[in-house]
Amino acid sequence: MRIVILPDYDRMSHWAAEYITRRIQQFPTSADRLFTLGLPTGGTPLKTYEYLAQFYRDGRVSFRGVSTFNMDEYVGLPEQHPQSYHTFMNEKLFSHVDINSDNVHIPDGNAENLQRECAAYERVIVERGGIRLFVGGLGHDGHVAFNEPGSSLQSRTRVKTLTMETRRANARFFDNDAKSVPKQAITVGLATLMDADEVLLLVSGDAKARALRKIVEDGINHMWTGSILQMHRRAVIVCDEAATAALSTSTVKYFKDIEDSLSEAGADPYSSAYEDFA
Ligand code: GLP
Repeated sequence: MRIVILPDYDRMSHWAAEYITRRIQQFPTSADRLFTLGLPTGGTPLKTYEYLAQFYRDGRVSFRGVSTFNMDEYVGLPEQHPQSYHTFMNEKLFSHVDINSDNVHIPDGNAENLQRECAAYERVIVERGGIRLFVGGLGHDGHVAFNEPGSSLQSRTRVKTLTMETRRANARFFDNDAKSVPKQAITVGLATLMDADEVLLLVSGDAKARALRKIVEDGINHMWTGSILQMHRRAVIVCDEAATAALSTSTVKYFKDIEDSLSEAGADPYSSAYEDFA
């Protein structure tokens, strides 16, 4: 695992957008081979999406050769609802870049047969060659996507019942009324995430400090599902200083030392080879 600690949310978001941009730029796309990118919603990735849109406007990155797969979507919320993840992604990223809408994938939380929708989602990911880079966020209880505590570490895309804690956390988008937050969501599973070539987890703010400690310093545990990343061969956590508040001093120092020594050696912090060192 590589942990990149940056001074603040803005620098963290810029780093993440740069990392994603480099991966897209480096990928040899062709008509039948697109760069498959897994994407999260939530407050954390907002600035990363702003930077990606800016990089697109600056002519640094194009999404023509990109196929996206969102992590999750609420069940039963109309697609056009202001808080659906369909709306979120259109507003925050897709409408600002040149992605072909045929290459955008978000689970359909209104499908007549939800189980079939979940199975189809997994199938399309495989048909597209698997996810190259899965970007994710972290819930207060350590969840990734909507893999709530107790999720199978081998889970695939499925319907999950949300915990009250998650519904309360997301109530800020629903007029602060946790009861208006849907009770269920379709989410990719932890095995879906683990199949990706790379995972980039964004973690910001002291409200996530406990969750970050749990997934980094404690053992792999289905109650803190982000801890599964300890088993991933190429997982990068990019966070701000505030999110590291509960990590031990030696953990923070060690991961900073790695980054410092690699940059002193002149390595490119965004290259794949860089993680092989870490
Ligand atoms: C939700 C989403 C997750 C997200 C998490 C944290 O539960 N399903 O994908 O990572 O919230 O969100 P935020 O970034 O707003 O703290």
